[in-house]
Amino acid sequence: MISLARVGKTFKTRRGGHVQALDDVTISVGADEFVAIVGASGCGKSTLLRMVAGLVQPDIGHLTLDGKVVTQATEGTAMVFQAPTLLPWMNVERNVTFPLSLSGRDVPEARERGRALLRAAGLAGFEQRMPRELSGGMQQRVAICRGLVQKPRILLMDEPFGALDALTREEMSLALLELWQANPMAVIFVTHSISEAVLLADRVIVMSPRPGRVAEIVEVDLPRPRSFDQEASAEFHRCSKLIRDRIYGGGSRAH
Ligand SMILES: Nc1ncnc2c1ncn2[C@@H]1O[C@H](COP(=O)(O)OP(=O)(O)O)[C@@H](O)[C@H]1O
Ligand SMILES: [Mg+2]
Repeated sequence: MISLARVGKTFKTRRGGHVQALDDVTISVGADEFVAIVGASGCGKSTLLRMVAGLVQPDIGHLTLDGKVVTQATEGTAMVFQAPTLLPWMNVERNVTFPLSLSGRDVPEARERGRALLRAAGLAGFEQRMPRELSGGMQQRVAICRGLVQKPRILLMDEPFGALDALTREEMSLALLELWQANPMAVIFVTHSISEAVLLADRVIVMSPRPGRVAEIVEVDLPRPRSFDQEASAEFHRCSKLIRDRIYGGGSRAH
């Protein structure tokens, strides 16, 4: 379990000022839970992910993984960014197994696992292709497979579908859910899309900027497996409205 308790982080700016990226953030994410984070630019979403990854330390408060304080990048945590960041000189299969070769675990079983992930991501037959031969959406799927090949216990995704067109986003969302259901792990998924957050997550954390705080936590009570048909449901509208009201300040809020 990931647990942030009253975490704060302030950065120094180049002009000698300070920016409070996170203030009094308390969040917990269960071992098999899928949590989405939404909020305006600058509200500390990336800082929060980087903190969970062990790349940024809190100034105040505590971050623990399974009860242990995180002080450095931990094995078992994978990060997927907005741009696919594949190595252009390696084919698809080698890009996927690259993290394993770094840690000397690039054994035949691992390679088979990489191929199985690529099949699950709809990339069977593309194993020997080079990244430049694939569309942006396919490259991002390869990057997600690369994240999953290490069997992470925690998958951190920072606007991973942000650069993709709407149809590819939808396709990728469903592919991600399938992969997550087959490989249970804690997922923290940062997105600008309210509908994407509601469709994917068990809980949506809404953040507000300056300082970055948790403004609302919305439990999404939609059955799994999820599908885009659920966008027509009352629960989908209830959650989306709560989130929108919190981000844009409209409507009234029940306490
Ligand atoms: N390394 C850093 N140095 C200085 N300021 C930073 C640094 N990282 C983030 N910030 C600032 O902290 C705030 C939150 O940033 P970030 O976590 O990237 O927000 P988001 O991902 O929600 O857009 C922003 O004002 C940003 O400029
Ligand atoms: Mg960000």
